[in-house]
Amino acid sequence: MSDLAVNKEELLQQEAHRLYGLLASVSRSNGVKWSYTDCLQAAPYTLGINQIKKEQNAVILAHSYTVPELGLGVADISGDSYALSLKAREVTADKIIFAGVWFMAETAKILNPSKQVIIPAGKAGCTLADSMTQDEVRRLKAEHPGAPVLCYVNSTAGVKAESDICVTSGNVFDIAAKLPQKELIFVPDLLMAQNIENELKRRGLCKKIISSGGSCCVHDKYTPDHVAALRRDYPGIVVLAHPECRPDVCAAADYVGSTKGMQDFVNKSGSKLFGLLTEFGLVNRLEAAHPDKRFVWPFGLCAYMKKNSLANTFQALLEPRPDQIVSLPEDVMNRARKSLQNMFEMTR
Ligand code: 13P
Ligand code: SF4
Repeated sequence: MSDLAVNKEELLQQEAHRLYGLLASVSRSNGVKWSYTDCLQAAPYTLGINQIKKEQNAVILAHSYTVPELGLGVADISGDSYALSLKAREVTADKIIFAGVWFMAETAKILNPSKQVIIPAGKAGCTLADSMTQDEVRRLKAEHPGAPVLCYVNSTAGVKAESDICVTSGNVFDIAAKLPQKELIFVPDLLMAQNIENELKRRGLCKKIISSGGSCCVHDKYTPDHVAALRRDYPGIVVLAHPECRPDVCAAADYVGSTKGMQDFVNKSGSKLFGLLTEFGLVNRLEAAHPDKRFVWPFGLCAYMKKNSLANTFQALLEPRPDQIVSLPEDVMNRARKSLQNMFEMTR
C-alpha cells in the first residue's frame, strides 16, 4: 500500500472511532445498536461533509428527528423547531444546510434571507404543513374578525404570511395564555388546538380555539392503549408525549412537551426508564446523551425527516439541485417574518 493509501485508511479508522464514541449507545432500529462497522461505513461521508462544510463556510442545522449520523455526526446544531429558528436567524456563515422538512428550511430562509438555504431532502413535506392553504386562513379571518391568528410553525410560508403570530410546540401554550383575547384562531393542527384549550383550562383560562387543518401522521397514531401498555409492561415507566398527540394521549402521559421539552425533562429526571410517544430520532438523541437510561419507543417514524441522509447531504453541499434550494417571493417572506418576529417577542 502507498503512503497515501495508508494515510486515508488511518483517517477513516480515526473517523469511525469518533463516530462510534458518539453512536455506540444509539439504536439503528428498535433493539439494534450502531456497531463499529456501521460507523466505518458512515466515515467517508462524515469526513467529506465536515471538510466541504469548512471549505464552503456552511453550517448544518438538523432537527431532532433526523437520523443520528447526521444530527450527531455532522450537524453544528441539532434541536427543536424553536432552537433551530433562533439559530438560523444568527447564522453568519454563507450557507445553511437544513436537515429537516421543507417548512423548517423555509423558516430559516425567511429569518436569514441573504443566506443560501439548502435542504438535502428536497421538497420534504409534512402532513400538517400540507393540510392548510393561505385561502383557508383568509376564510377563517373573515369569519372571525378580531380573533388573532396563531399558526403552528409546521405551516407553509404563505400561511405564516397570513398569520399574526407563529408558535412552536415549545411556546404555544404560554403564547396562547398571554394573549388577552377570549377567541383565538389556531392552524393547522386540529389535535394541538384541542390540547391548547385543555391546557388553558388547566391554567384557569377559558378560551375558544377556532381551528382548521389536519394532524401529524406520526403522532396521531398513538392512543391511550399505547400508554396503558407501556405502564403495564414497564412498571414505573415515565411516559412523555409530544403536543401533536391526541388529547386523550396527552392526558394519560406524565409529561407533554416539544422535543426540547422532552430532552430537558429527561435531563432533570431521576428516573431511568422512559416511554417515548414521538419520532425515533428523538429516541436516538436521548440514547446518545443518557447511555445509563432506557427509552422504550412503541413506533413512529417520520418518512419526510428520514429523507435526509449523509449521501444527499454530501451531494447537496457539493452541487445542490434546484429543488434542494429554498427560494420564496420577497413579499411572502416579509409578511411571514413578522409572524415569526412576534413569536420571538412574546417568547423572550
Ligand atoms: P418540535 O418543535 O417539538 O421539535 O416539533 C417539530 C415537529 O415536527 C414535531 O413533529
Ligand atoms: Fe410533520 Fe409529523 Fe413529520 Fe413533524 S413528525 S415533520 S409534524 S409529519
